[in-house]
Amino acid sequence: MALLITGAAGYIGSHVLKLVLEKSSKDVTVIDNFSTGTKERLETLQKIRNFNVINADLSEGKIIQDVLKDYNIDEIIHFAASIVVPESVENPLKYYSNNTANTIGLVRASIEAGVKKFIFSSTAAVYGEPKQVPVSESTPLEPINPYGMSKLMSERVIRDASLAHKDFKHVILRYFNVAGAAMDGSIGQSFPNATHLIKVAAQTALGKRQVLSIYGDDYPTKDGTCVRDYIHVEDLASAHLKSLEYLDSNESDTFNVGYGRGFSVLEVLEAMDRVAGFKIPRKMAPRRAGDPAILISDVNKIKSLMPWKPQYEDLDKICASALAWERKIK
Ligand SMILES: NC(=O)c1ccc[n+]([C@@H]2O[C@H](COP(=O)([O-])OP(=O)(O)OC[C@H]3O[C@@H](n4cnc5c(N)ncnc54)[C@H](O)[C@@H]3O)[C@@H](O)[C@H]2O)c1
Repeated sequence: MALLITGAAGYIGSHVLKLVLEKSSKDVTVIDNFSTGTKERLETLQKIRNFNVINADLSEGKIIQDVLKDYNIDEIIHFAASIVVPESVENPLKYYSNNTANTIGLVRASIEAGVKKFIFSSTAAVYGEPKQVPVSESTPLEPINPYGMSKLMSERVIRDASLAHKDFKHVILRYFNVAGAAMDGSIGQSFPNATHLIKVAAQTALGKRQVLSIYGDDYPTKDGTCVRDYIHVEDLASAHLKSLEYLDSNESDTFNVGYGRGFSVLEVLEAMDRVAGFKIPRKMAPRRAGDPAILISDVNKIKSLMPWKPQYEDLDKICASALAWERKIK
């Protein structure tokens, strides 16, 4: 088995790469253009065991074709993408190019090269502002920004390609709010301007940011702040390995990945206060456009069809791992 991971120098991709290196004997090749990913993460992971690193952009079709052929790739996990929602509103074509067009190119090259399994990083953003929670996979798909739409279009491309090419099977994973860092402290989320709440709370706890803004306290939720389904990055990572196994005896499918329960912004801050040992500076700020009040996944499908067993379903553990990682980096 030879596995290609695109975007493995990034936050989520590196945690999946780590697990693959630890838990399997697959030959692994990584493609990344290091636009947001870091070489340091890959250097850290090379200590587990060796893998191939190709510094290339997914738009470089000939390089992609050569990599698939030269390394006999038969499985792909595709993370490489642009992921900042406000940027996608300002610069939609960047998102349709990097996320959708590059996925089309990768899928085309995969089919030509005889790739059998394709795991795709999708997002709860494909649901937009759902009218009902928890959100199941059959909830209407109505993204409200170009990022979500670029991912939904990619999903459609992958699905139609599998319908036309029976040997090309896929699993689409729609992630909810990914957070935390590797429990052994080796890797974590490094993007300094990240907007993810738990990352920002950890940075604020360490004085890297002066104060954390809470965007809106008048939502129809238990305490007025937005509620999200936070999943530890290592539990999300293990869902990717289970997805590859799933395709050994099942057809292509789409799954939500979260824990199926939600915490408000204030509850997250209380958890970070507990693990930091003091109250993190915070201030109220106006709502941001396009933030649904509550986003919680219905995870019955993945739990009933895959032997996926989350291990870190504990908000304090998630916050503690994020804080420990934040202490370690500059
Ligand atoms: N972080 C989240 O909370 C979240 C939630 C839902 C879905 N996702 C999805 O998970 C995936 C990974 O997200 P992340 O948080 O790890 O982001 P990230 O920015 O840390 O990682 C993306 C990686 O892809 C690389 N990359 C980007 N464009 C590339 C290109 N054209 N060619 C080669 N490499 C390229 C970057 O250098 C980086 O290493 C994305 O597809 C994202 O849409 C993330």
